[in-house]
Amino acid sequence: MKIGIDKIGFYAPHLYVDMNKLAVARDVEPAKFTIGIGQEKMAIAPITQDAVTLAANAAFGILDASDKEKIDYVIFGTESGVDNSKSAAVYVHGLLGLNPHARCVEVKQACYGATAAIQMAKGHIALNPESKVLVLGSDIARYGLHTGGESTQGAGAVALLISADPKIMVLEDQNSLYTDDIMDFWRPIYSDKAYVDGKFSNEQYILFFNKVWEDYKEKTGFGLKDFEAICYHLPYTKMGLKALRTVLDQGTEEDKDRLLANYEFSKTYNKNIGNIYTGSLYLSLLSLLDLKEDLEAGSRIGLYSYGSGAVGEFFSGILEANYREHLYVNQHTELFESRREVSVEEYEVIFSETLPTDGTNVELEIDHDPAVICLAGVNGHSRQYINKL
Ligand code: HMG
Repeated sequence: MKIGIDKIGFYAPHLYVDMNKLAVARDVEPAKFTIGIGQEKMAIAPITQDAVTLAANAAFGILDASDKEKIDYVIFGTESGVDNSKSAAVYVHGLLGLNPHARCVEVKQACYGATAAIQMAKGHIALNPESKVLVLGSDIARYGLHTGGESTQGAGAVALLISADPKIMVLEDQNSLYTDDIMDFWRPIYSDKAYVDGKFSNEQYILFFNKVWEDYKEKTGFGLKDFEAICYHLPYTKMGLKALRTVLDQGTEEDKDRLLANYEFSKTYNKNIGNIYTGSLYLSLLSLLDLKEDLEAGSRIGLYSYGSGAVGEFFSGILEANYREHLYVNQHTELFESRREVSVEEYEVIFSETLPTDGTNVELEIDHDPAVICLAGVNGHSRQYINKL
């Protein structure tokens, strides 16, 4: 049975900060952020957006009435969830009015969560070919103002509809996994910001890539020549490039040119959004699909997922005939074009605005947020979400 991505969409908040200006404010050479790190704009989440609303807005953009009826499983990958008990998937299920005969869960393994969700979805569909699974990867990446990780923050969500006979991409069965208990990046329960050993995390990302790539090649007999493009989890866009460069000498000049050229397409959305943790790999895939207009059906795309802590996976997909007709390119172009730049000073104010941690009731001003689905406040320790339509 063919199982894979039937629909894919994303959402990012309407605000961003320019990385050149952030660099100047931090007394850093702008080229360090734009070339060394590879980021141009960083999406900023207003207080009225959280992992739930970002995901709900991403899914809202792609689901029709028939999908809502057929979805019987919502799997929400996130590492910036809003509740230690209730899953973010249940909130999204309610906000989108999905079929009540559905299972809803949240999964966590840093940025790897949405990939785990996709693999769970594949297993579910293999047993229930008629069903559709909504997979969400949604996060707000926060390291803190004036920290080493600040330039690699971001906010956004990707929504994927996984089904049998998918319209966009069939996920192949071969994959390779690697897990090791390391402390490269983590976020203790008491902290709203991540802790990170930056250099170590970069090394481990590449080490895990090399391990799963070599194992995948051995299992499948595939090599660089078999891939039209390889998409990476992109905490910042230079990271995937560094990993790709470690294997380029395994192919011909043609392979090298093709993979490097396609890497450019696969990083464009990410360099304008920043790290969205669980959604980053899929934002990169979306960037490639939306922007590389002559990518042919039948092409094999490699996918490298990495979640600190750490789990890595390499897997692949094959593009279906007429896949382009099922993309939401115009919706995404509009999203990028309608964003508003904020100054570094405004970004610092927005970043520092957080909900009370003691459960005090709060009402938020949602009129300034153009998103359809917003967080309107907290009442009686319960988050108040609004779907404006
Ligand atoms: P840093 O110390 O600010 O930067 O940390 P640096 O000194 O390493 O410089 C970065 C690059 O800019 C270097 O390039 C410099 O040479 C270059 P490289 O040698 O690495 O290719 N550079 C310049 N280039 C042009 N013109 C200039 C210039 N100056 C310097 N003038 C770091 C950077 C990424 C470590 C930091 O931002 C950080 O800690 N970020 C967060 C951690 C992270 O993103 N890790 C990535 C791997 S782990 C992962 O992907 C998982 C994650 O998504 C979490 C999860 O799984 O949940 C993070």
